[in-house]
Amino acid sequence: MPRKDLAKVGRVLASLVLASLVSGAADKPAPLDVAHWRTVFARPDHTPTPAGNPATPEKVALGALLFEETRLSGSRDVACSSCHQADLSFTDGVDRHVGYDGQPLDRRTPPLWNLAWGLSFFWDGRASSLEAQAMVPIENEREMAGNLQTALRELGADPQMRKAFAIAFPDDPGVTQANLAKALAAFQRTLVSPETRFDRWVKGDDGALEPDELAGFALFVGKAGCAACHQGWRFTDEAFHDIGLPGEDKSRGPILGLQAADHAFKTPSLRERVWSAPYMHDGSLATFDDVVDHYARRVVKRPTLSADLPQRIDLSATERAQLVAFLNTLSSDDPPRPASLPVKTMAWGANAEAVPTSSVSQKDRRFTPGAIILKVGEALRILNDDTRVHNVRLDGPGKSFNSDAQNPGDTVTIGFDQPGHYDIICGIHPEMRLSVEIAQAR
Ligand code: HEC
Ligand code: HEC
Repeated sequence: MPRKDLAKVGRVLASLVLASLVSGAADKPAPLDVAHWRTVFARPDHTPTPAGNPATPEKVALGALLFEETRLSGSRDVACSSCHQADLSFTDGVDRHVGYDGQPLDRRTPPLWNLAWGLSFFWDGRASSLEAQAMVPIENEREMAGNLQTALRELGADPQMRKAFAIAFPDDPGVTQANLAKALAAFQRTLVSPETRFDRWVKGDDGALEPDELAGFALFVGKAGCAACHQGWRFTDEAFHDIGLPGEDKSRGPILGLQAADHAFKTPSLRERVWSAPYMHDGSLATFDDVVDHYARRVVKRPTLSADLPQRIDLSATERAQLVAFLNTLSSDDPPRPASLPVKTMAWGANAEAVPTSSVSQKDRRFTPGAIILKVGEALRILNDDTRVHNVRLDGPGKSFNSDAQNPGDTVTIGFDQPGHYDIICGIHPEMRLSVEIAQAR
């Protein structure tokens, strides 16, 4: 055989070996990089709190009281806790709660763990803060059917409530809508899920997980592809994905006015989920086995399917059981009680060093660099060199921009004619943040 052909055979063999390594060679799983994954899934040591609503024990106590308050509802017998029950990971144990009109609500009640780290709220992310979210169910005709003004008047007429508000808000006492929202949000930020066996393993206790559970974790971060979206200690990327569940709910698409985001729901955390069945936005899957079965066999193929969803997941019966065994290690053995963590004020992108450049990349769903400085009159070019569809958005001050669906390969250009500071995000992956400083041209 001529030399050239030999070399060719060699290359083909090499690529075959490589392919079998990449595909995880069914019977021989790739080794788990324990040190790496222990860093990725490490728990934080504090809870973030926004500068505009610092947490105090008095505010949190008031929020806890209001969470149980039936006077916020029209019929005076529904509170937040009617649907968000502590022993059920703050859900209600049903696929969809029956609303005031006797019909099931459109979506399932989500658990409320670890929302202090959330970037958007509701399954479709339509509320941008916990403070904004809290007002929605009160006036929702089918949930609490209350009237805020009536409820505030009534609470304000109760001397004990007046006192609790005054203690919680010494600088701005009053039974007001703003204070109601702040107290409810501050209380919900204390709902931090406690450590589980998985966290003991992350901290270095090799014996904390059974071999099958560890094998399940290796599948989760390996060939099952789950960690593409369920990543970080809360097991969510805070982004919106269509994972191919059947149904008509368009979710994020209409919120953004973007067909590419139809059927895309916020990736839920996987903490304490043993206590919050059934699963998914519509409560359509009863068990973890059903969830794994969905990913392995039942994904509905649509153009909007997430680029982060593996094309194919081949799992044996043993592997499925291992994956479920691992999911169970993210929940407490008894109904969980919130862990207590010190609070720390947080601001987005406050400490990124601004780089003078007019060109930004979106590779691996990250704006790089994350902070830039330009001069008035210069244009910013954002290149989609990623594998995913993005949606570049800028909302004020004095300027707004929406790229619509920015497909891989597309570049968007934004001109700036006023000095100032602008924050740019991706509507589909809100963890992508770009801070733009426009300096006066000389
Ligand atoms: C009738 C049942 C019901 C009541 C009462 C209720 N909720 Fe909810 N809650 C839901 C449902 C259903 C959703 C999801 C709706 C959606 O995504 O469109 C939700 C979503 C939420 C979310 C978003 C969680 C996330 O992961 O994005 C928060 C926070 C929340 N509720 C807090 C509250 C608070 C605070 C109250 C009281 C003021 C309250 N809820 C009252 C059913 C209820
Ligand atoms: C492309 C991103 C993505 C990948 C990959 C992914 N998930 Fe999900 N996961 C989601 C989204 C989004 C939802 C919510 C979908 C909905 O409700 O419509 C979800 C929901 C879930 C739920 C239900 C949680 C709840 O409280 O309702 C579980 C459990 C889950 N996923 C486990 C897994 C496992 C196990 C894998 C790997 C086999 C996996 N996911 C892969 C994005 C992803």
